[in-house]
Amino acid sequence: MAEPAAQHTSEYRTGSDPRTLRDALGCFATGVTIVTCLDGDGSPVGLTANSFTSVSLDPPLLLVCVARRAASAGALTQASHFAVNVLQTHQQPASIRFATKDQDRFGATPWSPGEYGPPVLRDSLGVFECAAHAVHEGGDHHIVVGEVLRASFDSTLDPLLYFRGRYRRLHFD
Ligand SMILES: Cc1cc2nc3c(=O)[nH]c(=O)nc-3n(C[C@H](O)[C@H](O)[C@H](O)COP(=O)(O)O)c2cc1C
Repeated sequence: MAEPAAQHTSEYRTGSDPRTLRDALGCFATGVTIVTCLDGDGSPVGLTANSFTSVSLDPPLLLVCVARRAASAGALTQASHFAVNVLQTHQQPASIRFATKDQDRFGATPWSPGEYGPPVLRDSLGVFECAAHAVHEGGDHHIVVGEVLRASFDSTLDPLLYFRGRYRRLHFD
């Protein structure tokens, strides 16, 4: 007698439609950053971004993709320096704030100018202060490449993660 068919509770989807693409990309688990700079008036600007990627060690380069329609896009593509603040679990409210329109992002988030000027968020897991290196066009995003001038991190903190559209945290045990 034939074995009963295995129960498949998993979902396997294929397609080239935007929803499937977004959901498939969301299967790539990431950390969460807030990318900051000063605009032409010296005011702090920043947005939540998980498109952060290391690019090169020599020279030390990293990138983040910023939506062309983001209000922060102009400042981030023109700034001489920017900072990538890597978030820890307790900074989830800041992540939400910096991803939401009409929030007093910097008024509600402790920060101070970094060594090279861009805003550094207090209690971040890591901070990369960068000099602007290049801006490439990538469809509906700008690919902002920075040369790392200063990197710092606190190895005692746990990272804030993002996976399938939800915030997550590591389970160590
Ligand atoms: C977890 C997470 C990751 C995000 N990653 C990016 C990103 O990499 N690039 C981007 O342009 N927007 C990203 N966003 C969306 C922006 O944070 C959001 O659109 C924000 O409101 C933009 O702010 P602005 O329009 O004031 O610049 C992300 C949002 C969340 C919640």
